[in-house]
Amino acid sequence: MKHPYAPHLALAHTYWKKHLLPTDFAIDMTCGNGHDTLVLHQLLPEGEVFAFDIQPSALQNTEERLQAHRGGCKVRLFLHSHANWDEAHPLPQAPRLIVYNLGYLPGSDKTVTTQTASTLQSLAKAIAALSIDGALSITCYPGHLIGKQEEKAVLDWASELPSAKWEVCLHRWINRVDAPSLRWVGRKL
Ligand SMILES: C[S@@+](CC[C@H](N)C(=O)[O-])C[C@H]1O[C@@H](n2cnc3c(N)ncnc32)[C@H](O)[C@@H]1O
Repeated sequence: MKHPYAPHLALAHTYWKKHLLPTDFAIDMTCGNGHDTLVLHQLLPEGEVFAFDIQPSALQNTEERLQAHRGGCKVRLFLHSHANWDEAHPLPQAPRLIVYNLGYLPGSDKTVTTQTASTLQSLAKAIAALSIDGALSITCYPGHLIGKQEEKAVLDWASELPSAKWEVCLHRWINRVDAPSLRWVGRKL
């Protein structure tokens, strides 16, 4: 894996693999270069994925990455902010997994980064739309100012979720300043 902080992504993918069933519906809220969308595609051979990004080049890159792996999972790409992801429909079923890999695209324009307000807006809609045993996977990158603010806001938001209904876990690699972090937010049955 090319990303310099691969352990948090590898861990996220392990969660996804354990959680998802082949016929599930999942959403990738920030598809970027399509690495995560491809993982979802491979985990859902009879399922469906919606993938969002606000950059046409991101959708193009995701489309190209998926081309060699067509068949099985149905993937729909949307040039659309994840803040208004609920305008993309019909949803095939309630999503069992919604994935946020926040921040900016490595090697791309760093000013095109996810923003706290729209991320929180998206999360509020996501958590309401999840299936009864659905989950969120949220990766944050506090290595830049906007990412640091966004991570704090997402942490505050996730910490407030009632423990009777949600299990919320935080993973962080602790021997590196401003290392990326992963939150797993699972709905309790
Ligand atoms: C860290 S990258 C995602 C990497 C991607 N998951 C992959 O596997 O390559 C973050 C992405 O979020 C996108 N983004 C920024 N603001 C967004 C928004 N409001 N809605 C959807 N995507 C957004 C950026 O364009 C960027 O591609």
